[in-house]
Parts: sequence; C-alpha cells; structure tokens
Amino acid sequence: MIVYLNGQFVPEQDAAVSPLDRGFLFADAIYEVVRYDRGRPYRLAEHMERMREGLTEIRIAATPDFFPSVGERLLAENGLADQDAFVYAQVSRGAALRYHAFPPAGTAPTVFAFARQTDPEPSPEGGKAILLTDERWGRCDIKSVMLLPNVLAAQKAREAGAVDAILVKDGFALEGTKANLFSVAKGVLRTAPNGPRILPGVTRAAAIEAARKIGLPVEERAFTVEEMYASQEVFLASTTLWTHSIVSVEGRPIGTGKPGPVSRMIREALTEEFTGTSPKSQVPSPNSEGALRT
Ligand code: PDD
Repeated sequence: MIVYLNGQFVPEQDAAVSPLDRGFLFADAIYEVVRYDRGRPYRLAEHMERMREGLTEIRIAATPDFFPSVGERLLAENGLADQDAFVYAQVSRGAALRYHAFPPAGTAPTVFAFARQTDPEPSPEGGKAILLTDERWGRCDIKSVMLLPNVLAAQKAREAGAVDAILVKDGFALEGTKANLFSVAKGVLRTAPNGPRILPGVTRAAAIEAARKIGLPVEERAFTVEEMYASQEVFLASTTLWTHSIVSVEGRPIGTGKPGPVSRMIREALTEEFTGTSPKSQVPSPNSEGALRT
C-alpha cells in the first residue's frame, strides 16, 4: 500500500512516524474518513469543514486543504480510482518531548493518510446490537483519534455477536461506536441533536435531508432507551455503512424484528447521491409503507 505522510507518497513499510509523535503518546490528533465512488468523493466539503473545525477546536495549526489532491493521488497509487473506496486522514500535533501542554511553537503537525477498498455491504437482514454505558469524553463532536471507549465497546459488541453497541448516557440511546443512531416512531424520524454528546455525522445530515425530501418528519431530539424499544425502526448511519438496520437490541426485537422501510429508503437515497445513479427499486412514498403510520 502506498500511503501519504507529511508531503510524501511512500510504501507503507517506509512511512516512519516518530515514537514521540503526540498522536501516538496522547491521541492528540483528529481524523476524517471520506468515501469515494470511482474517484468521486461523497460530500468532501462537509468532511473538510468538520476537520477544519476540529483542528480549530483542538488548536492544531493545520488545514485540511491537503485532502482533495492527497485523496485523489492515494486512490490512483493504490488502484482504487475505479472502485468504492475510502480515504482516511489524520492530523496530529506532531512529535516533541513528552510534556502534556503544547509542544514548542513551530513543531510541525504530522499528516498521515491512506486509502482502502470499502468493506462489503452490511447484511440486508439487519443486525443486532447491545447496550453499553457511554464512557466517552465530553466532546464527542470532535472527531478525535482518542477512540479507546469506542474500541472497547465495539469489541464487546463483537464478542456478543452483535454488529454494534448502542452507547447510552443518562438514559438516552445516543450513538453507535462508529455511526450515528436513528429511530422511527409513529412516522417520525428521530436522532440526537448535534452537540457535545455525538459526532455531527456527514451521513446523519444527508439522512435527515433525504428523509425530509420524501416527506418524513424529522425530530433532532435524543430518545431514551425505552423510546427506542417502543419504536418501529432503529438504524445506524455512517460513511462506511450508509444505513444499517438494527433489528434487535439486547435480544429484544425492534418493531417487527425485520429491517424497516425508512432505513432502506434513506440508504437508497444516499447511494443514489453517491453513485449518481438511481437504485434498482423504486423509492416508495412514505405513506405506502404501513410501518410509517403506526
Ligand atoms: N466513524 N459517530 C461516530 C462516533 C463515528 O465514529 C462516525 C464515523 C459517525 C458517522 O459519521 P460520518 O457519517 O461523518 O461518517 C458517527 C468513522 C467512519 C470511523 O471512525 O471509521
């Protein structure tokens, strides 16, 4: 694999980052994941804006301006320019002797990026989830590489045979370990509002737009675990999944226990926007689907 590191495109095994890099020592870094369809990025401007805001928030003097040209070249170098692929990029505060406060002025940020093929589509049968206490820090809106709570939760989900863990804080079902969380109840699509408790997902915003376009009311309001169990549908949304239905949580079925229509309709709308082609199946109007009215 050819990767990008600080201005150079090099084989992965030749890319060396200092062990004193603050990304390594402190997780003092942020990242983005952008999906490309045959070289065309999905909502790159939104990803770059989020990275710009993250860099400003954590006060790293760098910009995401490298993204378009680095992404394009990584896809070309790795034979991914005609595929469904994603580009991962992260910027750390650079390498310096280990003191918690910022390194000396002039310490260069470390910029690292790689591209890889997208994982196989998630199962159309949906998946099960478990519930875990959200142990993340208080600024989940910053796409920090400090993902230890997410890593541990994802591993617990895997060990339980679940596709993900739904993270719960103060009784609210907020987010997956790497995706935003939605529910559909009484014909209303719900998801937690942007703010410090969740990541402002690019797919989340696109899903809300798609729902509104098909006439589905959207409420950006956190829902409780009880409300989630009483809903007709629950699904995750992210760059790597589009949408993925959660058909049971902690062994309790959601709705009919089968993937619901809203997750599918939104998935089709996002895929259509991504690839520029209409999906095979017709997008039904929300009123033609019983589950939306119950
Ligand atoms: N994760 N919430 C969390 C905690 C995430 O880590 C992600 C993305 C999302 C969805 O954001 P977006 O729609 O912008 O991809 C929500 C990426 C894909 C990852 O960590 O690999």
